[in-house]
Amino acid sequence: MQLFLDTAEIDLLGELAETGLVDGVTTNPSLIAKSGRNFLSTVAEIAELVAGPVSAEVAATDFPTMMLEGRKLAGIAPNVVVKLPLTLDGLRATREFAMEGISTNVTLCFSLPQALLAAKAGATYVSPFIGRLDDFGAEGGELINEIRAVYDQYDFDTEILAASIRNPAHVRAAALAGADCATLPPPVFRELVKHPLTTSGLKQFSEDWAATGQSIL
Ligand code: G3P
Repeated sequence: MQLFLDTAEIDLLGELAETGLVDGVTTNPSLIAKSGRNFLSTVAEIAELVAGPVSAEVAATDFPTMMLEGRKLAGIAPNVVVKLPLTLDGLRATREFAMEGISTNVTLCFSLPQALLAAKAGATYVSPFIGRLDDFGAEGGELINEIRAVYDQYDFDTEILAASIRNPAHVRAAALAGADCATLPPPVFRELVKHPLTTSGLKQFSEDWAATGQSIL
């Protein structure tokens, strides 16, 4: 399972990328707005920092402008993935980009029929939003289960990119449901490594080691 960072904050990204555990990055207009940074130069910087896929979202909602924006974004670097909304225009653009060999990430997916359409359009990735579904009173993890079952049943190649991940429990649900990737805000990525027993166990080991008076180096 691949783990992506859902951020436009270059500093946070750089630190975590050094671990070698970051397989890619996703951004969206809200994250760009929050960062206060220039969109195109930020995408270029991220695409250089991370070798894996970097999703950059179009702003347009109509098909012709989506095509223009998408081609411009795809031209920034070979690892840029054009992110498109799950609308008829977005799906039409997804299909066109697929025929041109341009990778796409169909975003704002909240139902199995939507995911089915994204796969039929030839999306490289589909992004079901787990956290927002939970906020809505639905079961985000269950949607991933359903998409996995249907994609496998019909041999769709579209990868499931679990998004709107708010906590490690969402990562657990996405992994158990067979998501191909999950995109995490940097604080959630950092949370994944933590467990109180790891913290207390390491403290005990360090104290016991110090008491031996030995040194490995
Ligand atoms: O990038 C899309 C998605 O991850 C947004 O998450 O927390 O705004 O629902 P959130």
